[in-house]
Amino acid sequence: MNRVGLIGWPVSHSISPALHNAAFAALGMDDWQYDLQPVPPDVLRGSLKVLKDEGGYVGINVTVPHKQTVMPFVKPDALAKAVGAVNTIDLRDDTATNTDVYGFMDDLQANGIDPNGMNVVLLGAGGAARAALYGLASTDAKIKVVNRTLDKAVAMIQALGVSASAAKWEAVKPADTQLIVNCTVVGMFPKHDESAWNEAIPFPKGAIVYDMVYRPAKTRLMELAEANGGRAVGGLGMLVRQGAFAFKRWTGVEPPLEAMFAAAREALGQKAE
Ligand code: ATR
Repeated sequence: MNRVGLIGWPVSHSISPALHNAAFAALGMDDWQYDLQPVPPDVLRGSLKVLKDEGGYVGINVTVPHKQTVMPFVKPDALAKAVGAVNTIDLRDDTATNTDVYGFMDDLQANGIDPNGMNVVLLGAGGAARAALYGLASTDAKIKVVNRTLDKAVAMIQALGVSASAAKWEAVKPADTQLIVNCTVVGMFPKHDESAWNEAIPFPKGAIVYDMVYRPAKTRLMELAEANGGRAVGGLGMLVRQGAFAFKRWTGVEPPLEAMFAAAREALGQKAE
């Protein structure tokens, strides 16, 4: 059996097993299995060794709170080093990467969103924001990062060494904003009445919202974009695609995207669009 799985603390909420096991089933890969491994922070290093040497794991996804702390124990590639976080490890050689960046950029493209030449407001400065900022900075988008804690936005831009500015809400110009990317957790179930957009600032007309939140499928922020003549894309595609890149990395097999999307929607109780 080739075992893969997710380590985090906690991990019980994750839909990654549904995604990956649906992919294995769709391709008849009966000798592959994905499961959840709750790993408390103080035993991270030892747990990796046990999973590899005794558990028969060939690959591991990494989530909160281990994405940064796992880095000294693996061999991160240039992308993971630049983002400062790992989410996928190949335990056969301990190489590691960050598929969130690919997942995000791939989903933008799949939705026909080309950030080149756009003025972008990126909301947040946590792990998800780092991946988005790194990806967007590879285009010639002009990026303003707005975060509840401004210092964290400044530090993130500096750490990534990218061209972007940290801004207060007052510095956001609605008429000049084409793309809004929400990388905060604001609007996520069960606080789905909230929106990451500051109500004191008029909502941009005709702007595109990319909301990394995937539960609910249509967030308040997405509704605001549509009410103002714009488009909105939720975070399900990024979730599925980051998983698909991890799948490819471990198995070397082309991921069955449709089966993975269907499994993700089913696990979240969401209908197809
Ligand atoms: P992730 O790894 O998913 O990015 P994270 O690192 O905890 O999660 O980051 C969460 C982000 O959501 C941060 O940008 C956080 O803002 P702070 O840096 O000020 O903590 C943002 N966030 C969380 N709750 C928020 C709230 N109620 N209002 C505004 N921003 C919020």
